[in-house]
Amino acid sequence: MGDQLRVARTVPTLRRAVLRWRAARERLALVPTMGALHAGHGALVRAARRRARRVVVSIFVNPAQFAPEEDLTTYPQTFNSDVAMLTGLEADLIWAPSTDVMYPPGFATRVVPAGPAAAGLEDRFRPHFFEGVATVVTKLLVQCAPDYAMFGEKDYQQLKVISQMAKDLDLSARIVAIPTVREKDGLALSSRNAYLSARERAIAPALNRVLKECAGKIARGEPLPQVLEEGARAIEQTGFLLDYLEARDAETLAPVTSAADGPIRLLVAARLGSTRLIDNLPV
Ligand code: PAJ
Repeated sequence: MGDQLRVARTVPTLRRAVLRWRAARERLALVPTMGALHAGHGALVRAARRRARRVVVSIFVNPAQFAPEEDLTTYPQTFNSDVAMLTGLEADLIWAPSTDVMYPPGFATRVVPAGPAAAGLEDRFRPHFFEGVATVVTKLLVQCAPDYAMFGEKDYQQLKVISQMAKDLDLSARIVAIPTVREKDGLALSSRNAYLSARERAIAPALNRVLKECAGKIARGEPLPQVLEEGARAIEQTGFLLDYLEARDAETLAPVTSAADGPIRLLVAARLGSTRLIDNLPV
């Protein structure tokens, strides 16, 4: 058994723990989250444990990445069960700063990502989202100074934005990508799945099913525009309002016009009632 799981709520407390581990030459992995933990987050923590002796999980619902009309005030908070789950996974420390600790009065600096952050996917529907994510993730990486930081492929554009940012800013943490954890019916695990009604929950797996169908058709050589059009129609027929269904270069997220353009990633975002779901798949 490891040491007891502790909770740090101030930067000096966090720094003391990190310095102690560094002095003992122990490797550190960080798993940034907004809490409401599920098995997808669990996979990140397990992968962190495999790479590093010490694992810090941050839990911070980051106001800077929510637009005024989004779900900041209703975002699920399940701190006690998060602690129980992280105890079971033998994490070492929960970094849970208050908003005032993360953004003290007078806070005036932002990290503004471009490149994959301006690919015309999530950024088209959530214009300030990646600025908020980049700012808080930069802070988390500086605060914790980890050897590794784990991110899920579930949020594929976010993963690419953070990888680019870490490279551009010479951040020393290695950014590690973890495959999407899904329910048996294909629905990607997400804290926001808790918002779905029983009826919506029954419809939700259509997103992944259609992605798989599209990937199969593209691999068999069917033309991209036709595949995407059929996919969009299929998603809307199930009751979703589609934000986008796109085929992009898996690395740069640049638009592609044919399967010959190289490794392709299919990305989708759609709304079911008041819940917005995203998913993605390699071809
Ligand atoms: P959150 O949505 O809590 O997700 C935290 C991490 O878990 C992200 O890297 C996300 O991609 C990963 N994740 C979520 N669902 C997953 C699944 N089904 N399978 C695998 N990984 C999954 O993403 C954020 O928080 C925030 O934007 C954050 C990076 C913490 C910055 O505030």
